[in-house]
Amino acid sequence: MALLCWDESYSVRIKELDRQHRKIVEGINRLHDSLKLGGGKEETVLLLTELRTHMQEHFQTEEGYLKANDYADFSDHCEQHQFFLHRLNELEERLKKRRSVKSALTLVQQLNQQQVEHVREHDQSYTKRLVEKGVL
Ligand SMILES: [Fe+2]
Ligand SMILES: [Fe+2]
Repeated sequence: MALLCWDESYSVRIKELDRQHRKIVEGINRLHDSLKLGGGKEETVLLLTELRTHMQEHFQTEEGYLKANDYADFSDHCEQHQFFLHRLNELEERLKKRRSVKSALTLVQQLNQQQVEHVREHDQSYTKRLVEKGVL
């Protein structure tokens, strides 16, 4: 069962970014399901690599938007993105060591929660500012 289903309430009103957010949600769900269904090390590491690619691509695009619009909290926002990439490294270690699938699952669930909070609190606040500035 999916950890999270993306819906319009997560929208940041920029199509490209919404599409990328959706891909990240799908990637987290796939990894979660694979761990739950006993997917092997190779499969889970591959899914994590795909998720990392989606996240890196998204952060780059989103940071581009923030920079282009002189977003005041730019560096704090980028630090948050870095935090997610660190968490993925941590997760990769756990998946490779394969010591505890349960601890990897917990980390994926936390990652999902933190990602949702990031979109709701941080990504949606820059959209609000862009609306105020008349960019959107
Ligand atoms: Fe963000
Ligand atoms: Fe984002």
